[in-house]
Amino acid sequence: MEEVTYQGLTFEPYIRREQIAGQVQRLAQEIKRDYDGKNPLFLCVLNGAFIFAADLFRACDMHDAEITFIRFKSYEGMASTGDVKEIMGLNEDITGRHIIIVEDIIDSGVTADQLRKELAKRDPASVKMASLLFKPEALKVGTGPEYVGFEIPSEFILGYGLDLDGLARNLPDIYVLKEKK
Ligand code: IMP
Ligand code: MG
Repeated sequence: MEEVTYQGLTFEPYIRREQIAGQVQRLAQEIKRDYDGKNPLFLCVLNGAFIFAADLFRACDMHDAEITFIRFKSYEGMASTGDVKEIMGLNEDITGRHIIIVEDIIDSGVTADQLRKELAKRDPASVKMASLLFKPEALKVGTGPEYVGFEIPSEFILGYGLDLDGLARNLPDIYVLKEKK
């Protein structure tokens, strides 16, 4: 695995696809154990979570699981704008449903906190969050995700759904911004 360059910035390999697949399998087993038979509704937060959600949803292998999609945006470039806008709404009735929010990464926690508050208004039976990545040191609001693939330091990463202004989502591995020497 080589370094990659986007917008003049160099990124180096950080988490390999095999490691990602291993954590996806582990999370899927935990979720299946907790939700099988409960008709859970996975709520994929677009855009970043779409690849993780597809892999996780398949790996869970539950007969009664459903998935739907919502779109939030709070990031521009490499810094959180702190201003979370709902772009695509949730049309399903979630009253009495068990919701599993699927996120790519929890950074400041602003997006997750906002989403949990919005969902709580609609009387679900339960709401938990599965995030592939979590930056605990960056968390400003709320609690972290209940299901976490990798805890990482506050560094900017991309690949496997994570982007830099829309680019690099299609990288099968995850890369981290290289320190300037
Ligand atoms: P938060 O609201 O600050 O927790 O940010 C959550 C969103 O910011 C994530 O769903 C990502 O879309 C984006 N984000 C946070 N950290 C990174 C990163 O390191 N690389 C790419 N996107 C990120
Ligand atoms: Mg996101």
